[in-house]
Amino acid sequence: MNTNPYLEKELRHFFYTFKRQPLLLEKAKGSFVWDEKGKKYLDFYSGIAVCGVGHNHPNIVQAIKKQAGRLLHVSNYFYTKPQMALAKALTEKMPNSRVFFSNSGAEANEFAIKLARLWAHQHKRLGREIITFEDSFHGRTLATGAASGSKGKSKEMFSPLPAGFKTVPFNNLDDVESAITSGTIGIMVEPVQGEAGIRVAKSEFFHGLANLCLEKELLLIVDEVQSGMGRTGSFFAFEQYGIKPDIVTLAKGLAGGLPLGATLAQEHIAKFVEPGMHGSTFGGNPVSCAASLEVLKLLSPKALKSVQVSGDYLLKKLSGFKKFPFVKEIRGRGFMLAMELSVEGAPFVNLAREKGLLINCTQNNILRFLPPYFITKQELDKAVKILEIVFLEMN
Ligand SMILES: Cc1ncc(COP(=O)(O)O)c(C=O)c1O
Repeated sequence: MNTNPYLEKELRHFFYTFKRQPLLLEKAKGSFVWDEKGKKYLDFYSGIAVCGVGHNHPNIVQAIKKQAGRLLHVSNYFYTKPQMALAKALTEKMPNSRVFFSNSGAEANEFAIKLARLWAHQHKRLGREIITFEDSFHGRTLATGAASGSKGKSKEMFSPLPAGFKTVPFNNLDDVESAITSGTIGIMVEPVQGEAGIRVAKSEFFHGLANLCLEKELLLIVDEVQSGMGRTGSFFAFEQYGIKPDIVTLAKGLAGGLPLGATLAQEHIAKFVEPGMHGSTFGGNPVSCAASLEVLKLLSPKALKSVQVSGDYLLKKLSGFKKFPFVKEIRGRGFMLAMELSVEGAPFVNLAREKGLLINCTQNNILRFLPPYFITKQELDKAVKILEIVFLEMN
């Protein structure tokens, strides 16, 4: 039986790329979204880690309106005030760096890969190989898809993919060490693997990667597309490890709901880039940059601390679900949390939605929780209550 009233239209007019929830959403505010029938849902998707500061934050909406009334787009052949201010603010967060603005995570990573290859070229390195990790996700372009370690048939289906990536197990330093050859130029890693189902890099592993990069003159490329912008309780997740990456990518939460990607690289790499080597028509659009400046203002030390505190609170509450026989593990950091089940997650997602809570399932059996940062304790308790009812019904 077709329980999705929108599917027929979707199949008629769209490529069938997304397994969508059967909801047509019409408005959103803070931690909530509403469907076309006026039903309200607590949103633990946050647009897949995009609306970290909440839906339609008034400061962001105001900044967008103001900028849209002034200047929508002029191309990157000209300077704009929001883009310049954002470049300054972001590079201050990663000393000695420069930034390139794009529109998405995949594009930000694509440029990170280009930068690593450019650096290798300038240093007359023998090879071009970047080590990446099993289950990692870096995007859906051909190069970022090749870099991703996620399983599935798409690599075979869309071959030939760009060469130059070697995938090794995550959180195992010995495997990384043995994979390094004279052709290796860098290591690309997510501090917390998001699409894999919230797998946190162990501290000794991340430190080990940073040390290997120093020792063997490799670039450490950190993909913060999902883990960055405060999601784990610090601006960048890598800060919590006390390491210094060479290249960092951001997108998702960067502009609070508008498309924007950023690639930050240390000066020793950035200095090789010359006009014509890279570019983007829309990247760094003034409206997206104006929105992003507001996101940055909202991510105060106090706000980041509250993500840590509320994240710990939710993690503790979710830990109580270990009593259910089908719950395998609960894990995560800040507001990037997951519950791994020994059964399929879709029925849990569907039941939670019916009861007014939107949660995401990745890898078929891992429930992923990405709440908005300023969610209240009452709202968190409400979500846990709904989950309890769902889990009792599923038991
Ligand atoms: C870690 C990571 N990198 C890259 C991407 C790709 O981002 P986008 O979908 O904006 O291209 C994602 C998206 O889920 C991601 O989680």
